Amino acid sequence: MTAKVISFINLKGGVGKTTCCVNIAGEFAHSHKKVLVIDADAQSNTSILLMNPERYINDVLLQNQNPKASEDEIIAKTVYQIFLDAIEKKDKFDFDNAIITSVVNYKEKQSLPNLDLLPASFHLQELEQKIVTYKRTQYIILNNALKKIKEQYDLILIDCPPNLYTATMNALYASDYYVIPALPEKLSLFGIELLIKQLNEVIEIAEEESDKSVKLAGIILNNVIKAGNSRSGFINAHGTGIEDIEQKIFDFKEKGSIDKNAKVFDTMIHQRTSLREAASEFVPMCIHKPRDDSTSQFKKVCAEILKQIND
Ligand SMILES: Nc1ncnc2c1ncn2[C@@H]1O[C@H](COP(=O)(O)OP(=O)(O)O)[C@@H](O)[C@H]1O
Ligand SMILES: [Mg+2]
Repeated sequence: MTAKVISFINLKGGVGKTTCCVNIAGEFAHSHKKVLVIDADAQSNTSILLMNPERYINDVLLQNQNPKASEDEIIAKTVYQIFLDAIEKKDKFDFDNAIITSVVNYKEKQSLPNLDLLPASFHLQELEQKIVTYKRTQYIILNNALKKIKEQYDLILIDCPPNLYTATMNALYASDYYVIPALPEKLSLFGIELLIKQLNEVIEIAEEESDKSVKLAGIILNNVIKAGNSRSGFINAHGTGIEDIEQKIFDFKEKGSIDKNAKVFDTMIHQRTSLREAASEFVPMCIHKPRDDSTSQFKKVCAEILKQIND
């Protein structure tokens, strides 16, 4: 197997990048895909959500194990080391040392043996200052590093920070597909348009320099509130937000500026307290509540994503 790499990107925070990434990863792993999640956000939410805070503090920040753990030892446990190696011309990063295998280990019985994590730490926020001295080919660092482990996974999912700086650009360049989690409101329209245009500039460079292509798989509408039973019930609750986003995607396709298969996924993720509960239990929905509505929504989104990437 060679992993398909998918990034979760939006310039805006709080739209559900991490929620979608964690739960979609959980769902794929649950259905026997071998999955690696890469946390590319200095806020490390994905790492903490998948590991739980205690393990994260112990095993990544190394606090209790070794109170004198140096910054270097911590960073070596995270994705940041991949970038530092490129910048400082070192070879310290070791996937075996950094990857947390079978990361979800909830009450022992209900674990997800197929789900691995490459964590982040707050040190990743220093990347922008460091990278300025490293102008050449600064977007291909992660792509090159992932070549070593792609054969070990079916899917590699990258959770991105809410900006288009180095980590996100590297994630995009390393990806076969990207997914935009977005809120179903009119304001999202402007963000999505700007995002797609800016990402297209990098994708063009990526495609010129290598034989790879990076495609928009689709937009996941998240935090959707339902009003009534039909699809028009969603539209009513969100004004024309949903229709506008669908129209925008249609227009982009007409112009040929996104992949012809890109779409607003049919399945929307509803606003649910169970999702917040799962986040405070530090487990994906498929473990927290296997029969919940939200779990089945993520399952359906996974099926839609698979269809896109296998077409
Ligand atoms: N569909 C949803 N229903 C309820 N809460 C949600 C939903 N999606 C996200 N949240 C909550 O909203 C907050 C922001 O989501 P998050 O995934 O961290 O966004 P991002 O990664 O884009 O910043 C989190 O507290 C998360 O639990
Ligand atoms: Mg996030």
